[in-house]
Amino acid sequence: MEKLSVPQGRFGLSRYPVRKKETLRAWDAADEYLLNEVADKNLTAVAPRLLILNDGFGALSVALSDFMPAMMSDSYLAQQATLLNLQNNQIRPDRVRLSSCLDRPDGIYDLVLVKIPKNRSLLEDQLFRIRPHINKDTKIIGAGMVKGIHRSTLELFNHILGPTHTSLARKKARLIFCEPDMTIDPGDNPYPRTFSLDKPRHEITCHSNVFSQSGLDIGTRFFIEYIPASDQTSTIIDLGCGNGIIGLVAAELNPNAELLFIDESFMSVESAKATFNAAFGGLRKADYQPNDCLAGIAENSADLVLCNPPFHQHAAIGDVTAWQMFGDAKKVLKRGGELWVVGNRHLAYHVKLKRLFGNYVNIASNNKFVILKAKKR
Ligand SMILES: C[S@@+](CC[C@H](N)C(=O)[O-])C[C@H]1O[C@@H](n2cnc3c(N)ncnc32)[C@H](O)[C@@H]1O
Repeated sequence: MEKLSVPQGRFGLSRYPVRKKETLRAWDAADEYLLNEVADKNLTAVAPRLLILNDGFGALSVALSDFMPAMMSDSYLAQQATLLNLQNNQIRPDRVRLSSCLDRPDGIYDLVLVKIPKNRSLLEDQLFRIRPHINKDTKIIGAGMVKGIHRSTLELFNHILGPTHTSLARKKARLIFCEPDMTIDPGDNPYPRTFSLDKPRHEITCHSNVFSQSGLDIGTRFFIEYIPASDQTSTIIDLGCGNGIIGLVAAELNPNAELLFIDESFMSVESAKATFNAAFGGLRKADYQPNDCLAGIAENSADLVLCNPPFHQHAAIGDVTAWQMFGDAKKVLKRGGELWVVGNRHLAYHVKLKRLFGNYVNIASNNKFVILKAKKR
């Protein structure tokens, strides 16, 4: 395990999920810059009420665990990583209070450390959400890699919290310093947003960190035209549900099915719930679970898994998560159950399905996307 050396100590940190032959570190230069700044400016001299936003794998939470920080993130994986890294360093799990960024922070914070997320909407939403939990004396420091900090990032801080400036770059990382101004009126938080679909007619709820939040993704739109229909009692899983439209269409076409919506993003799971309840007026029940793919779901329990897999994990581009989703689906499906997948043609998911399931059928394709199904034998 690689070690992070900072003024707060030396900590062994791993990424999550833990993979053999991992080539990427569990922290970046922005984490190091931020932890050095906290030490240089003596910001923990008087134990502060500390809030950390978007800690990727727990580097900040672990290094600052003496101050019992609250860590808010939209990522279930980030929370699991933080718990794992606390354990790796023999730190009790209750030294960090983990919550989803949809939870309300409690009270007023003295020090707020913000890892700048890639998604500008998430940052905007988070700044609105923390505003009632700071005062004019709160120290707010953002940190990110230079390529992820733009003029628009600073404008968000300026507009929602108060005057903001940046530091010099160090190892391609930069800090953002914001002085809260409690007299400004930033207006209302525009999140969550909703959009209307004409075909099928639905109101879709999208919290700020949900995939394709301004409208339906074109791959998803293609996929929902082909979702299978049946009157049988069945269990259907929308894996990586995002706003939940795939599971919602499946529920309509399969009136006797029980639906389970799963995503590693808390906001996605909540968006899927809101979308589903708006469609059925709360009359049809479904289950919702933040999870890492299908971890802990009973084997041989599902009839159908529907999936539009992600092809990015944090900054790293790869198909690791798709592999994991397909492998998990094979375990969780009953014999005769099916995994249906949509993806860009160039991702060649058919190769993976053939390798894992020994079969696949091309359901439909257009110039960009392909829909495939594989059956568990
Ligand atoms: C391409 S998006 C599809 C979203 C939605 N199904 C749609 O079609 O609009 C992939 C989704 O997978 C989720 N995801 C990524 N990694 C995951 C993991 N390890 N476990 C569960 N969901 C994950 C993402 O948060 C994202 O919502």
